[in-house]
Amino acid sequence: MLRTHHCGELREENIDQVVTLAGWVQEVRDKGYLLWIDLRDWYGVTQVILSKDSASPNLLAIARKLGREYVIRVTGKVIARSAVNKHIPTGGIEIVPTAIEVLNSSATPPFLITDKTDAQEELRMKYRYLDLRRRPLQQNILLRSAIMQGLRRYLEGARFIELETPLLVKSTPEGARDFVVPARQSAGEYYALPQSPQLLKQLLMIATVDRYFQFSKCFRDEDLRADRQPEFTQLDLELAFVTQADVISFVEGAICHLFKEVKGLTLPPFAKMSYAEAMALYGTDKPDLRWDMPFIDFTKHAKGYGFPPFEESTLIIGIKLNGAAKDYSRNKREALQDWLKANHPQANGILYIKCEGEGRFDSSAPRWYEDAPLQAWGRLAKAQSGDLLLLIGGAPKVARNAMDELRRLVIERDQIPAQQTFAPLWVVDFPLLEWEEATQRYSACHHPFTRPKAEDEHLLSSDPASVRAQSYDLVINGLEVGGGSIRIHEVALQSAIFKLLGISEEVAQEQFGFFLEALTYGAPPHGGFALGLDRFCSLLGRNSAIRDYILFPKNNHGRDTMMGAPSALDGELFALSS
Ligand code: AMO
Repeated sequence: MLRTHHCGELREENIDQVVTLAGWVQEVRDKGYLLWIDLRDWYGVTQVILSKDSASPNLLAIARKLGREYVIRVTGKVIARSAVNKHIPTGGIEIVPTAIEVLNSSATPPFLITDKTDAQEELRMKYRYLDLRRRPLQQNILLRSAIMQGLRRYLEGARFIELETPLLVKSTPEGARDFVVPARQSAGEYYALPQSPQLLKQLLMIATVDRYFQFSKCFRDEDLRADRQPEFTQLDLELAFVTQADVISFVEGAICHLFKEVKGLTLPPFAKMSYAEAMALYGTDKPDLRWDMPFIDFTKHAKGYGFPPFEESTLIIGIKLNGAAKDYSRNKREALQDWLKANHPQANGILYIKCEGEGRFDSSAPRWYEDAPLQAWGRLAKAQSGDLLLLIGGAPKVARNAMDELRRLVIERDQIPAQQTFAPLWVVDFPLLEWEEATQRYSACHHPFTRPKAEDEHLLSSDPASVRAQSYDLVINGLEVGGGSIRIHEVALQSAIFKLLGISEEVAQEQFGFFLEALTYGAPPHGGFALGLDRFCSLLGRNSAIRDYILFPKNNHGRDTMMGAPSALDGELFALSS
């Protein structure tokens, strides 16, 4: 061994021991009479101290030549520190060296390797291996490792088996574009990288595997956001002979277990809401329930008074801001009005109603609304003195969209405190199909292998848009952390769904023939779920950017600036691949 201890290990009980440590030079502080080296490794930092009076000139000379990030080995005696540093676990001791060996030098790093850094993100991405020397990123990847290990243990305990499905596959539709790989031995043909192992895990069920899981790499060529990467990881599950309730309760158990194990937190009971309710109450299929501020439907109460913007609106909805009446100055209201005009020009509003107590209300359209209708609104909203109502009207989609964003905006701008730290929610009863104006056909809301609800199956031919699916999304704090469904296991139903999706029989055969055939060999009823692991880590780490939990992420343009990928292939490689 090159060392006897690591740099986070030594304490007062080690005083007087002779030890050898190895690590990186965080900093050398030379005060002339005393010189300190902060020696860092994965586990922590230990201080090395040299005094001009007692250290050998040779040792002092070596120490003075050390640069940041040099790799060194130090042998010496542990002593008590005169000035204890309470901020680090090794702060009670320091090492008086008898030998310092330089194991490797280092170029000057392009930014300081410290917990806090003001280095630009692009620079840190280019030197990710240096950024990974910083504690905040190390804590993120340690969290990721703890989550993966915890999930693995939990699933093994529940008799899931861990399997790996291939990465060079035929395209599986999850709604994004595929990344493709040219096949050298079949000129002009391509593999696709999986958007998810959806079809493969269903084939495993047909192969009689009862409970499968995998930490699977998924690849989707889509526009990137803070919660999206082109290459990401799912914890992918599939179970045979289960209902939607079985999968939901299993996943809930796993998530609760993990929160307890990793964060020491007991999650509140998971809320459940249908897609239709989520849209009506929050205008989104991923409501953030940390704030109990649902939309209130004022349509019936606000129309018929001649207020032009609302007379032409088919839906009028509002939110209540508790005790906010006094905070909304004219300037603040106008700023929100401008925001609405700029971002949702088709929405009507914002109408403000202040609740002044004793049945008195003050509205921003006093010409149209007097106390009587406003009192009815106040009762509907259960408004108390000092509360403020914000109303928006428009076509349903427009009004809900605008109100969803307005709700988020006021929560953020007014720093409204959350009522819960984590608010888990199952969104269920999604529509099976979605009408796409651009292509004039239906597309699958979840994916084409999702089973319709039994009670809606008879509507497939007469009213496909109203058929609900046996699919479920797990939303925590407004983030979709996972989703799944019960699958179709009968070939006739699967073929009928392909037909509804406008996929001709020939195309279905060509793209999914192997799968349709597999369904004819006794496919069991089955269902599953995929947890977005990167998103889940970012949620537990309380940081919305998933790239902070991915070792080597891509930037917003899908580039790996460290390796310089994607890149043109050089001539020789290209010849090989074409
Ligand atoms: P879905 O497409 O909903 O379902 O994906 C499951 C979860 O994966 C995460 N996710 C992403 N995370 C980071 N970057 C991305 N680009 C990205 N896209 C998705 C989300 C999402 O909830 N085969 C089905 C699952 C199933 O039915 O079992 C599937 O992939 O957290």
